[in-house]
Amino acid sequence: MANEWGPLATLAGEWQGEGGLDTAYSHSQEKVLDTPYLEKATFKPFGPVDNGSQSLYGLDYHSAMWRGNEDIPFHTEVGYWLWDAATGEVMRCFVVPRGITTFAGGTAAADATEFTLSASAGHDTYSIGENKYLAQHASTRAYEVTITIDGPDTWSYHETTTLRMDQFPELFPHTDHNTLHRVA
Ligand code: HEM
Repeated sequence: MANEWGPLATLAGEWQGEGGLDTAYSHSQEKVLDTPYLEKATFKPFGPVDNGSQSLYGLDYHSAMWRGNEDIPFHTEVGYWLWDAATGEVMRCFVVPRGITTFAGGTAAADATEFTLSASAGHDTYSIGENKYLAQHASTRAYEVTITIDGPDTWSYHETTTLRMDQFPELFPHTDHNTLHRVA
C-alpha cells in the first residue's frame, strides 16, 4: 500500500491472534483475573479526508475478542486509525461498547515500526468519554497503547487502561496485549 498511510500502511488487512492476554478485575470472581483470548480484526483503508488544509488517511477497523469456546465475544471495538503526514500525528479513535469513547494520539515517523498513542480524561485533544455509571464506579482515567510492527504480516500491541475503581484505593492498570498475524 502507498505511503499515504505512513506507519499505518502495514495494518491494512485482516488479522488474527490467539495469544492475547487480558488483565482485569472480574466482578463475577471478585478478583483480578488474567484471561487468554483469541482476537480477530479487520482494517480497511480510506482517504483522503480533508479538514481545511489538513489531509488525513486512515483505516476503519473493528475487532473482537473471545475467551475459550464462547460464541459471543467478551470485548469488541469499532473505530478509526488516522495519519496526518504533514505533522506526523497518528490517532486512534474507537468505541468500547461498555459506553466509552477514546481518542488517543501521538507522533511517529512515516516509516516507524513502533509508536505509542495515549489519551487521558480531561485532556484538551486526546481524551476519553464515558457513561455516568462508569464515571462513578469504574472510570477510565488514561489509556496508552504501543504498536510494534514486526514485519509485513505480523504486528503486536501492548495497552494499559488506567481505571479508578470502587474496588481499589489506587488506580488499577487494566492491561491487554496480543500479536496479530495476517489472514488476508
Ligand atoms: C483487548 C482489549 C480489552 C479486553 C479483552 C477487555 C476485557 C475486559 C474484561 C474481561 C473486564 C472485566 C469485566 C468483569 O468481569 O467484570 C473489563 C473491564 C473493563 N474494561 Fe476492558 N478490555 C479491553 C480493553 C478496554 C479498553 C480499551 C477500555 C477503555 C478505553 C476498557 C475499559 C474497561 C472498563 C471501564 C472496565 C470496568 C468495568 C467495571 O468494572 O464495571 N477495556 N475489560
